[in-house]
Parts: sequence; C-alpha cells; structure tokens
Amino acid sequence: MTPPPPGRAAPSAPRARVPGPPAWSGLPVRLLLLLWATAASAQGHSRSGPRISAVWKGRVGQDWVDFGQAEPHTVLFHEPGSSSVWVGGRGKVYLFDFPEGKNVSVRTVNIGSTKRSCLDKRDCENYITLLERRGEGLLICGTNARRPSCWNLANGTVVPLGEMRGYAPFSPDENSLVLFEGEEVYSTIRKQEYNGKIPRFRRIRGESELYTSDTVMQNPQFIKATIVHQDQDYDDKIYYFFREDNPDKNPEAPLNVSRVAQLCRGDQGGESSLSVSKWNTFLKAMLVCSDATTNKNFNRLQDVFLLPDPNGQWRDTRVYGVFSNPWNYSAVCVYSLGDIDKVFRTSSLKGYHSSLPNPRPGKCLPNQQPIPTETFQVADSHPEVAQRVEPMGPLKTPLFHSKYHYQKVVVHRMQASHGETFHVLYLTTDRGTIHKVVEPGERERGLVLNIMEIQPFRRAAAIQAMSLDADRRKLYVNSQWEVSQVPLDLCEVYSGGCHGCLMSRDPYCGWDQGRCVSIYSSQRSVLQSINPDAPHEECPNPKPDKAPLQKVSLAPNSRYYLSCPMESRHATYSWHHKENVEQSCEPGHQSPNCILFIENLTAQQYGHYFCVAREGSYFREAQHWQLLPEDGMMAEHLLGRAHTLAASLWLGVLPTLTLGLLVH
Ligand SMILES: *[C@@H]1O[C@H](CO)[C@@H](O)[C@H](O)[C@H]1NC(C)=O
Ligand SMILES: *[C@@H]1O[C@H](CO)[C@@H](O)[C@H](O)[C@H]1NC(C)=O
Ligand SMILES: *[C@@H]1O[C@H](CO)[C@@H](O)[C@H](O)[C@H]1NC(C)=O
Ligand SMILES: *[C@@H]1O[C@H](CO)[C@@H](O)[C@H](O)[C@H]1NC(C)=O
Ligand SMILES: *[C@@H]1O[C@H](CO)[C@@H](O)[C@H](O)[C@H]1NC(C)=O
Repeated sequence: MTPPPPGRAAPSAPRARVPGPPAWSGLPVRLLLLLWATAASAQGHSRSGPRISAVWKGRVGQDWVDFGQAEPHTVLFHEPGSSSVWVGGRGKVYLFDFPEGKNVSVRTVNIGSTKRSCLDKRDCENYITLLERRGEGLLICGTNARRPSCWNLANGTVVPLGEMRGYAPFSPDENSLVLFEGEEVYSTIRKQEYNGKIPRFRRIRGESELYTSDTVMQNPQFIKATIVHQDQDYDDKIYYFFREDNPDKNPEAPLNVSRVAQLCRGDQGGESSLSVSKWNTFLKAMLVCSDATTNKNFNRLQDVFLLPDPNGQWRDTRVYGVFSNPWNYSAVCVYSLGDIDKVFRTSSLKGYHSSLPNPRPGKCLPNQQPIPTETFQVADSHPEVAQRVEPMGPLKTPLFHSKYHYQKVVVHRMQASHGETFHVLYLTTDRGTIHKVVEPGERERGLVLNIMEIQPFRRAAAIQAMSLDADRRKLYVNSQWEVSQVPLDLCEVYSGGCHGCLMSRDPYCGWDQGRCVSIYSSQRSVLQSINPDAPHEECPNPKPDKAPLQKVSLAPNSRYYLSCPMESRHATYSWHHKENVEQSCEPGHQSPNCILFIENLTAQQYGHYFCVAREGSYFREAQHWQLLPEDGMMAEHLLGRAHTLAASLWLGVLPTLTLGLLVH
C-alpha cells in the first residue's frame, strides 16, 4: 500500500484506516488489453506496437541459475527434447539440467587454452564460441588463445581435435556464423588472422571449398544461415541473412541495408581460374520492412527465425525478421521462402540492362555441371536482384511495430484446445525481458496481442541467446550472469478468476475446475474462448464480479483518502460518488494507485464510493467503499445539515491535490 504524499491528506484526527488491498486482483490487466486490440482494429490502425500486461518472474533455483561468475561471451546449445542446456563460456562448458519440479543441477567441464605464451591476458583465454552435436559427441570449439581449436566431449571425456580454422574465430567479438548440414560445414569465420579481412561466406567442409567474391558484400554482418531442401536435390539452397553498408550513398538513404542471399548447395565452383573456388550461384536481394501508410522504415535486421510449414511445404516456411530503425524502434516482418525463391528465380539484376545469359544467374544446375563463365561474370558484377523481398500479406506491411528495441525472436506454432493454430512470438528486449506476442489468427486479421512480459533473470541484463524447445514448450535464455528455463504455458500469472483467465487470450491457458491452467496440464479439454471480443462471456458467470463492499467509519471534518490499485497500464481508473466522477486517473499516471483525497469530510461526502476501471466499452468495478459517520446520532445531525454545505467544495480541493500528487 502506497503511503499518501507527505504533507497531504495524511490521515489525521480522527485516525482513519488505510484501505486494504482489494479482494480481487489483476483482472483488468488482461481484459482491458483485449479491448485495446479490438478498438485498434475498428479504427484501422492495428499495427502499432503491442502492449505489456502480465509479468512473470521465475522461481530461484528451479527456473534460473547463476554461472557463479560473469561470462561476457557465451554460446548456448539446447537439444530439443532434453531438459538440459549447454553453455560455453570462458575456458568452460556448463551443463545445466532443469528436471521437472526440482532444482537445477550444474556440471562444468574445463577446457582451458592449450597455448602457453600469449601477449595479453584476454588473448590467453579460450572463449568457447561453438557447441554442436556431432554423432555421439559434442563438438566444442573456442578461440584457444587466438589459435581456434576444437574438442570432442563424449562419455564424459574431452578429446582435443587440434587447431580447426573456420570453426571458431580468433577473438570472441568477431561476427561468426557456422552452419552444419550432414557432413557439410559452412562458415563466415575468417581463416587467416592477419590477412583476408574481408568477411566471406565459405563452404569449409563437404565438397570443394568455396567462398564468396570479395566484391559482392560490403562490410557484412551475418545474422542467420539455413539450408532449404527444395523439390529436386540439385536445387537445394543455402539462404543467409545479413546487413551490409548501403551502396546508395545518398544522404537521405539509410546507412545499412538488410539482405537475404542465396547459394546453390550443389555449387561446384566455376570453370575459369577466377571462378573456380568461388560460389558461382550467389545472388542477394533487399529485405524490405516498411509501412507505406505511415512511411516508417525499418532497415536494420536484428534477427531471423524460420518456422517450417507443418505440412512440409518448403515454400510455406515463414521467415520472421526483427528489424529496427535509427531510433531503436522495432518492427516484425514475415516473409515466405516461396516469395524469396521467386524473387531470385524471376527478377532482373540491378544495373544490368542486357538480356540475361543462359543459364540465368543464380540457377542451380543438375548433374554437377559447372556454371558457364559468362553467367558467373554477369552475376559476379551484378550480384543484387532488382526486385525486393516484401513481407507476406496483401498489404506487405510489418506484422507490427513497437517502441521497444527487440533483438531476438523465436516463434512457437501451437494449437489451442479448439484446434485453432496460433503463432506465438517471443521477442527479447534490450532490457533483458521477453515479450510474448500472439500473432493474429485467420479470424482476427490485423490484431497483434501482447500478453505477457517475462523477466527471466534475477539481475536485469541483456539476453545473449534464446533457444526454443517447441515440443517441450520451454524457452532457454542466458545473460552474462544467469541461465533460465521459461515455460511457455505460464497460466498461474493470470488472476481474476475465469474472466481474468479468458480475457488474457493466452492460447496456452484455459479455465478448469476453478483455476487458470495450462491446456497441456489436463486430459480434459479446458474452457477457452474463441470469441475475440468478449471471451469472458463464456465463463460460468458471464458478468464481471462486483467488488466486495468495504466500510469505514469517520468523523466529520476528517482527512481521508481512498486508494485504487491501477493493475492495468491501459485502463482509466475513476472514483465515483453518487452521480459524480470525483477523481480520474488516465493510463500513464505516475502513481501505481488512483487516489481520491478527502481533505475535510463533509456530510455530503459520506456514502458509497466506487472505483471503476475502464478501457473501451468494457468496465469493471474495482473497489467499493462506504464511508459511514462515526456515530449514528451524529450522522442524522450531519445529513440534516448537508444541504447548506457548498457542493462545489471538490472543485477547490481537487486541483490542489492532484498537483500535489504529480509533484510527488
Ligand atoms: C532450490 O534452491 C533454492 C535456492 O537455492 C533453495 O532455497 C531451495 O530450498 C531449493 N529447493 C530444493 C527442493 O532443493
Ligand atoms: C561411449 O560409450 C558407449 C557405450 O558405453 C560406446 O558405445 C561409445 O563408443 C563411446 N563413445 C566414445 C566416443 O568413446
Ligand atoms: C552500417 O553502415 C555504417 C556506415 O557505412 C557502417 O559503419 C556500419 O558498420 C554498418 N553497420 C552494419 C551493422 O552493417
Ligand atoms: C540503439 O541501441 C544500441 C545498442 O543496443 C545503442 O548502442 C544505441 O545507442 C541505441 N541508439 C539510440 C538512438 O538509442
Ligand atoms: C473543515 O471544515 C470546517 C467547516 O466547514 C472548518 O471549521 C474546519 O476548520 C475545516 N478543517 C480543516 C482541517 O480545514
């Protein structure tokens, strides 16, 4: 309970009781959020950022653990289906196990650097930068005092594999991406410490080693790479996502552009001495994430997540991109692999005005045929396609944009109890929290709903990595201090009974036997609503509960205040007395409570007070107080006198008090 501001309305003679916490708690948080979303769609600007409602914090010991020291550079590895997570740190690999209902267990394996002499202390360290399952063992690679090396961990024994360039960088700060596919290994890590500074995308294991021409990317920052198996084996593609300097040096143009590049997995290199060890099928396209109606552009790609189609149609794989703008606002755009593929197959090349050679640049050839030199030369000098890759959907706009600075994204496809499919996004913020956002289903086109802020750590710190286990429905995240396992079906945070549970519109949660429970926790089907406008109407008691009546006896001329906790950040709270609104607190109010001050209690001010939380057309009684005269006789006397008192007392008192509150 927040004390009243000093010097104002401190309960004075006769002593007044501070109102206790309300019997209900938290309901308007979610339900008001829903109404926000509904209203947004009605007004047609449904794409502003989601808002935050419920907040989850885990339990120490069970949901998160400490490294015991700072780990400024980490790599996280989780194998879907297991309850454990590997983290590589400085000279060490940690194995954290999160058994159900028990405390986390930790094991560590020391993997110090093998080099004896080095110049400065930092260079002597072995920063682990790669963890990957290879056969029976775990492949561990690290900087090893600027001599990148790997180890194999199997049956509890660490076997050194020696120096392995391209698997780990020389320094942990280097932007590095390594992609494994069967026996093939692709890497963006440079192999020479002092020359070859221009970053390249290489095939370092598999068929002949290949690398990208130094002219096809300008200062790239690699973000994500993936292999896509297409209809024919020879047509399998590697796509990778990156940012680079904008070749357009116009002062109006953004400094950086976001790209997707394609390569044929079966690329054999070329026929001429210039093309023989280069990728011959490289093409790149611009990834656009902008909202034409508001003229907002998001140019900096931050992260990419690929969500495969449940029916195995590679063209329908959804590509989620998180972008930011120079003010660090974010947008999420969704592309399809089919659209990306089509752009590369059909677009002309930027700046190339003759007719394209045959086979056209970027085409994969069957039977290991080499790409003719002419095709290579055209592609190598015009690596960008003219057409840009635009988001899916009729409007080709972001799914949403927001003032938060999102950095990483994973997406969970899940089925609610009615069988309806939802895509739930988990986005990390620069404040070390995760936002859970529900992408609109077919039914509610255009409504993006943010349903929860998750605080995975005890110490607020940037999230370094996030991994999703879709089948076990867990999220693994780490900062430089801690590792945390977060369940996706966090239903216990929703209070407010059936209404609170259903109005949260959390597709993982439903109402069952008097509790808000995970849909996975019960064999029976739990109550979930498919009515996006008023889900609470499906509750056994469809009307919002009334707040319990609380009474207080006060002497005339008392100072008193009534406090109403503002559980929702989106609602307007107001205190009503008789027909009047005595105090109103808008969203964004400084204090966490909406306080009504009574400076000098008059006879007319006795009676019933209601605190009402409202957003859109939904409102709910949050508090109900009755101020009673201290003594029955006195009351008669006062009420008789009441008509003579100035009804406008409030008009004088309120502005002063409100001012006091704001200053406070
Ligand atoms: C789990 O760890 C926490 C904090 O370290 C401790 O308070 C708690 O007793 C532990 N619980 C069990 C079951 O060991
Ligand atoms: C690990 O142990 C299993 C059985 O105990 C054995 O089959 C396997 O070969 C061992 N792996 C290595 C790398 O030693
Ligand atoms: C963005 O462009 C600027 C200017 O060309 C460059 O200094 C910077 O490294 C680029 N950043 C990224 C992430 O590509
Ligand atoms: C945006 O975020 C980056 C790092 O997260 C920070 O360095 C930069 O100063 C921020 N820019 C603005 C305009 O806040
Ligand atoms: C309250 O009002 C009464 C009469 O209206 C007045 O006599 C009294 O001084 C006031 N008390 C305070 C604390 O202002």
